[in-house]
Amino acid sequence: MQTLSYADGVITMIDQTALPQQEIWLEIDNVADLVGAIKRLSVRGAPAIGVAGAYGIAMAALLHDPSTDSEAFEAAVHDIREARPTAVNLAHTVDRVAPIARTDPAAALAEAHAIRDEELHASIAMGELGADLVLELAQKAQVRTMTICNTGGLATVARGTALAVIQTLHERGVLTEAIPLETRPLLQGGRLTTWELERMGAPFRLIVDSAGPFLLARGAADVVLIGADRIAANGDTANKIGSFSLALAAKHAGVPFIVVAPESTIDMKTDDGDAIEIEDRGPHEVASVRDTPIAPVGTNAINPAFDVTPASLITAIVTDKRIVRVADGETL
Ligand code: MRU
Repeated sequence: MQTLSYADGVITMIDQTALPQQEIWLEIDNVADLVGAIKRLSVRGAPAIGVAGAYGIAMAALLHDPSTDSEAFEAAVHDIREARPTAVNLAHTVDRVAPIARTDPAAALAEAHAIRDEELHASIAMGELGADLVLELAQKAQVRTMTICNTGGLATVARGTALAVIQTLHERGVLTEAIPLETRPLLQGGRLTTWELERMGAPFRLIVDSAGPFLLARGAADVVLIGADRIAANGDTANKIGSFSLALAAKHAGVPFIVVAPESTIDMKTDDGDAIEIEDRGPHEVASVRDTPIAPVGTNAINPAFDVTPASLITAIVTDKRIVRVADGETL
């Protein structure tokens, strides 16, 4: 299923906020609606918002010719780039497509399609490299995987990052069980990863986030696989809130902790995790579950959407081009 596409000035995307109960398709033909969809997480996951951003720039160039209407075009570039701060893919793709759009608006769309195709090929490569590494590290013929958030085709354009590895293991017939964490507050694991695992026919059991560390200590999984929103030059990795707890627990349990992300998620301009801006999404998502209040009206909350796992807790980083064995002293 192609969950994100562009044709004739319209970006079509599945609304991830409605899954799995409803399959609603959004047709977006203006920049404000695209920025709203990214902020609301109708489209989410670092590579997917990168592709959506690239299409957004192509759409903006169509609506506002950069040579005659540069003020409106530059405002669109700014709004799309700033829609979410942590996933570096969005800034990377906007910075790649916008200069092309400024000189040749028609060429911007070809570049956006190229970015989509690159992410598609990257997912296939990460799946293969990651599956090989998992089997090597686990030293077993059959493996059980734990993962957080949604890192599948919904979060990229097909197959995914960490979930692509799990899909490849399943296709090779060596996946005993996948264990996704539900991923509060927005339940990307409980709603989206389960939806994708079911569609691929993989065996899985869902757990609440706080069960992850305990189950690792009890030997329930052979490997932890996560995606990334930004990997700093020293290997520190920003990913969905809860990743850091899993990394600490994996270290405690002696379980390999593997980050799977395309090269486009590496940010060599950011030295380390302390310099990564972490999006706080405000109290509403914590004080409610899918808009149903669970706390007294007016409850304040801290809501970091991501955390940073230090490189010292990461066994390896798998990209579409290489395996960086961080625990063996290899660097990006
Ligand atoms: O807030 P989200 O749902 O956009 O967060 C997504 C994640 O944290 C993913 O793990 C990350 O973007 C990698 S997706 C291939």
